[in-house]
Amino acid sequence: MKLNVNGTEREVDAPADMPLLWVLRDLMGLTGTKFGCGIAQCGACTVHIEGAPLRACITPVSAVAGKKITTIEGLSADGQHPVQQAWTELDVVQCGYCQSGQIMSAVALLAKIPSPTDTDIDQALSGNICRCGTYPRIRAAVHRAAELDKG
Ligand code: FES
Ligand code: FES
Repeated sequence: MKLNVNGTEREVDAPADMPLLWVLRDLMGLTGTKFGCGIAQCGACTVHIEGAPLRACITPVSAVAGKKITTIEGLSADGQHPVQQAWTELDVVQCGYCQSGQIMSAVALLAKIPSPTDTDIDQALSGNICRCGTYPRIRAAVHRAAELDKG
């Protein structure tokens, strides 16, 4: 089947019910998206489908054929997306495991609400669990990314 991943059409030989996360990581080598729980409880596997965040671990690949799929690798060629810049500036990451999912949820939030409140951020990222407790830095970095986005 044909998949549109990060702006490129790619043919993959995958069973229709294979989770998108497996296809991305194991068949396409896009390992920036992480496997945490596998049951839609942690957010580590968050990618965008047509710009909206989605849990790749429970999404059969056939459900997203022909749709625009974006992974963390597709945000920018050089790690300079405003959200990535803000994350680096505020040194958000601890172990890092949850962070590509956090960033993908943050990018989707800012596309919808360019100047989010703390409540907006908490709600939008409530499905992204961080076992290291980096939540205060994540929140600060989303505010910083909003500033950077405005230039
Ligand atoms: S791995 Fe998908 S939500 Fe946890
Ligand atoms: S930084 Fe370790 S789980 Fe979030």
